[in-house]
Amino acid sequence: MAQFSDRIEPKDFAKMPEEYRELLTRLLTIQADCEIGGPHIYVDHWTLRAPTVDDQWRVARIASEEIDHCRKFLRMLGMIGLDRSDILFRPRSKREVDAFKVDMPEWGDFAAFGFLIDKVGEYQLDEMVGSSFLPTDDVLPTILREEKGHVAYGEQQLQKMMETPDGSVAAQRAIDKWYVVGLDMFGRSESARDERYIEWGLKKRTNGQMRLDYVAEMDPKIAALGLRVPDKLAGRKYL
Ligand SMILES: [Fe+2]
Ligand SMILES: [Fe+2]
Repeated sequence: MAQFSDRIEPKDFAKMPEEYRELLTRLLTIQADCEIGGPHIYVDHWTLRAPTVDDQWRVARIASEEIDHCRKFLRMLGMIGLDRSDILFRPRSKREVDAFKVDMPEWGDFAAFGFLIDKVGEYQLDEMVGSSFLPTDDVLPTILREEKGHVAYGEQQLQKMMETPDGSVAAQRAIDKWYVVGLDMFGRSESARDERYIEWGLKKRTNGQMRLDYVAEMDPKIAALGLRVPDKLAGRKYL
């Protein structure tokens, strides 16, 4: 597949073909929406209910980092002339991605969300590294480092839960709930839009390839925690 290899600065955006403008706008908008979607689910409930003061501080810090990620994506949208601050006030039911519509009533939900869903976020952001839209170079290194921190914290919390019988049951329940949500976040495996993203230098892998890579990385990690890898097909929306 031939791939577009120019680096586009914001000032050149208007000169780009409509397809490029549409795809870049869509990519930045969905990412901004996902970044703020997490805090909308857990800040109210978990910031002052997490099990220890260290955890409460960590929840607050994770939320602050996600708000900063959203800010950086909204800024990039601003560079191409779009004000999408409406995303900040979107009802949860209107989020772009289903993972951000789901409730988090248990602490295991917060842990599994960090471990599995932030990991999908990391995959999506990794796709943009070195993308044809130049400003992504400035923001992605910090964002990716922070996402890895969120994933590691979630994994640590699950590990801690595995130390007690009740905790183990709750950890498995949370993995069962979020694993399929994570797999679905990659979208449809066969997507015509995917190919266009790749051709325009905005992504590197297809949805299907990313999902396979994710499974290959995460299944052993789930097993290493002492947890059962859930069924890959039950309850899935996008195959
Ligand atoms: Fe983030
Ligand atoms: Fe995150």
